[in-house]
Amino acid sequence: MKKVNTIALPDLKKARNRRKEETKTILFDMNNEYKTLGNGKTYAVMTYGCQGNEADSEVISGILTNMGYTKAEEPLKADVIILNTCAIRANAEDRIWGVLGQLKGAKREKPDMTICICGCMPQEENATQKFLETYPHVDIVFGTHNINSLPQLIAKKYDSGKKVVEVLSEQGGILEAAPKIRVSKYKAWVNVMFGCDEFCTYCIVPYTRGKERSRAKEDIIKEVEQLVKEGYQEVTLLGQNVNAYGKDRYTDYSFGNLLFDLDKTGIARIRYTTSHPRDFDDLTIRAHAECKSVMPHLHLPVQSGDDEVLRRMNRKYTHAEYMEKVNKLKAARPDIAITTDIIVAFPGETEEQFKHTLDLVDEVKYDGAYTFIFSPREGTPAYSYENTLTEEEKKNRLQTLIDKVNSYYLKGNERFVGTVQPVLVDGPSKNGDDMLCGYTPHNKLCHFKSNNPDLIGKIVNVKITEAFSWFVIGELCD
Ligand code: SAH
Ligand code: SF4
Ligand code: F3S
Repeated sequence: MKKVNTIALPDLKKARNRRKEETKTILFDMNNEYKTLGNGKTYAVMTYGCQGNEADSEVISGILTNMGYTKAEEPLKADVIILNTCAIRANAEDRIWGVLGQLKGAKREKPDMTICICGCMPQEENATQKFLETYPHVDIVFGTHNINSLPQLIAKKYDSGKKVVEVLSEQGGILEAAPKIRVSKYKAWVNVMFGCDEFCTYCIVPYTRGKERSRAKEDIIKEVEQLVKEGYQEVTLLGQNVNAYGKDRYTDYSFGNLLFDLDKTGIARIRYTTSHPRDFDDLTIRAHAECKSVMPHLHLPVQSGDDEVLRRMNRKYTHAEYMEKVNKLKAARPDIAITTDIIVAFPGETEEQFKHTLDLVDEVKYDGAYTFIFSPREGTPAYSYENTLTEEEKKNRLQTLIDKVNSYYLKGNERFVGTVQPVLVDGPSKNGDDMLCGYTPHNKLCHFKSNNPDLIGKIVNVKITEAFSWFVIGELCD
């Protein structure tokens, strides 16, 4: 590879290592020489993937702002474009390749533009190789572990005129005190932990995000207290496996304890994602029953309803164990809305095993579900599992599952008709003029008539009058 400053390249084998070493906390700091590098220049951040990426993009925007860049009015004309990518399934990556094609045209129009790729895709050896070899318009490639190096990487690119690549395959540290430009003024992402040690056999995340590491509880509580002071109404606690919170750091403090402590900060709403059923524990269930701010919604990915498939996915629970937790939660909080993720056509999944997934959907009666066809990810164990299903069989299974899941969406919404729900107002509704929309505690999208923009960011009472599959309609009470 000519004309590339290679600082570090990804190494999936190294990324698989889990050594017992202390997690380092890095306090964000930026050299003065970088603080004016972006003066008079603009930036745009394009984000794909999960909420973890959304939160990282807020840090990236914060760093760029501290370097003097301002947000571009027209993203495709920005001086620096950051593409924050996702590697979870082939179709997530295909979207990125498509956007990269679009950016080629943008750079032709503006040759001094700097295009940076970051997030989970660069952590894959093949993807980074492709960025460097077949996408000449890509200038900087960095990964999930070194967002704080962005100023140096940009400076290096400006100085040398060459591509710069730095992708670290390490256990990962914790970045504190980084500047952030939050997208919302009333809903905030709050990372509680990073990484994943579950190693589900289909999943790339443990390789792209490093080991499980929890932030200090004091830092999280301080962040939420500050958000309350700034007028935030809702926090969503983030981690690939939030229920493992604290295990790497404390002997007597877990995710449930954190929920109880954050409830005391005065924040109106607490949500969290994502939960792993194995680590979802009794104290968290109690928090759902006892803490006013902990919202009555849980996203609890099940992936499959068949014990043998679950075993080969390395999910470490059975259909019955999953149901036991769901039933315990429903007993503690009968109105709880439960959503999930399900993968169909995992290699070797038989028709009978697929039926067990459908049965489980009937047992839980999910309020919603994200459904996926298994996508082989290079570097993961399931990549090489034999998959004998035809494309048509896979699609049929997905459609059967979607039909089943959809039948519960409407029921999940109908139960609120006639009740009054507090709605955190997001903004104008696409459902009609003079309408606003927002989310109820159970995470139902609610549209209601009002043209009062002062309600945006506030929690208002709405009487639900009508239910549809994907939303509810109501009337403003206050
Ligand atoms: N940490 C979270 C989120 C992981 S990614 C969790 O454990 O749930 C979100 C979802 O993508 C997963 O729940 C899973 O359903 C799906 N997914 C992950 N890898 C996949 C793959 N290789 N093929 C298809 N779906 C996948
Ligand atoms: Fe992936 Fe499993 Fe970790 Fe979720 S828990 S991020 S599915 S390895
Ligand atoms: Fe995608 Fe990485 Fe999140 S693969 S789902 S952006 S952790």
